[in-house]
Amino acid sequence: MGFAVGIVALLVGVIVNWAIVVAGGVIAAIFGFLWVRDLARARGLTEAPEPEPEERDGRGSARPAAAAPTYGRSAFLEVSTLGVGAVIGGLVTVPALAFMTLPAFLKQKSGAHDIGPLEEFPEGIFVVATFMSKPEEGEVSRRTAFVRNNGVLNGKPSFTVISNHCAHLGCPVQPLTNVAVPHKEYKDVTLIPLKTAPSGFSCPCHGGAYDTEGNRTAGPPVRALDRYAFSIIHGHLYLEAPYSVAEVHGTGATAQITKYPLSFPGEHVDGIESLLYPIQPPH
Ligand code: FES
Repeated sequence: MGFAVGIVALLVGVIVNWAIVVAGGVIAAIFGFLWVRDLARARGLTEAPEPEPEERDGRGSARPAAAAPTYGRSAFLEVSTLGVGAVIGGLVTVPALAFMTLPAFLKQKSGAHDIGPLEEFPEGIFVVATFMSKPEEGEVSRRTAFVRNNGVLNGKPSFTVISNHCAHLGCPVQPLTNVAVPHKEYKDVTLIPLKTAPSGFSCPCHGGAYDTEGNRTAGPPVRALDRYAFSIIHGHLYLEAPYSVAEVHGTGATAQITKYPLSFPGEHVDGIESLLYPIQPPH
C-alpha cells in the first residue's frame, strides 16, 4: 500500500508540483525497499541455515552432516520474476519517458545573447533592448528587455534586466517616459536609450502597472515582471535565460530577488496559489 501511495503521489506530482514528485519518489523507494526485504525474509532468502550438529557413529568417528537445506523453487521463481520484471520495466519505460520529456527541456534552453558592449549602457539609464532570441527563426523571435546599469557592487557590475511581457496575459508593457531617438543598432539588437528615467511601466491591455523594479503596483497582474539573467563576457553584456519573480525587495544593485522558473503570464510563483498551477517545462 505504501509503495502504491508513493507511485500515485509521484504521478500526481508530475502534473501538480515537483516537490510532490520528490516526496512520492522517496515514499515509493522506502516502501519498495521494505516490500522486497519482507518478501525475501518471508521466503527465507536472507537468513543463513543453522549448521547441522555433527553426528558420530558407535565407534566415535564423525559422520558427514546431512546436506544443507535448499530453497524452494517457487521462492526462487517469485523473486527472480520480480527482479527480471523490474529490469524489463525499467528498460522499457525509462528511455520512453526520457525521449518524451527531455526535448522539452533541452531544445528550449536558449543560449546567452550578446546585446552590445557595456559602453552602450550608461549607469542609471534604462535602455530598451530588442533582440532576436532565436536568430534562426527570424523576427518572430524578437524579444524586448529594459536594461539598467546599476553600477558596481562589491567589485561586480550590476544590471537590472526586466522583460516587457506583462505578468497578467503577456501583452508588451511600455516604459512611462519618452523614448530617445536615434536608436542604435548592434548586430540583430536595437538599443533605445530612454530620455528620462521612467516612473514605471504600464500595460496597455488591462491597465497593469509596475514600478521601476518591475513590481506590480496596480491592475490585474499577479506578480512582478519577469527578468533575464545576465553575464558579461569580454566587455559585452549577454542576456541569458529569463526567469520569473514574485516580488523584488529593494532597488537597483542591492535589490533582493528570489528566482523562480519561468512561468506563464497569470501564474502565481509563490504562496499557496502557486500549487494550483501545473508544472511547466522551461519555455
Ligand atoms: S495583459 Fe497586461 S494587464 Fe492584462
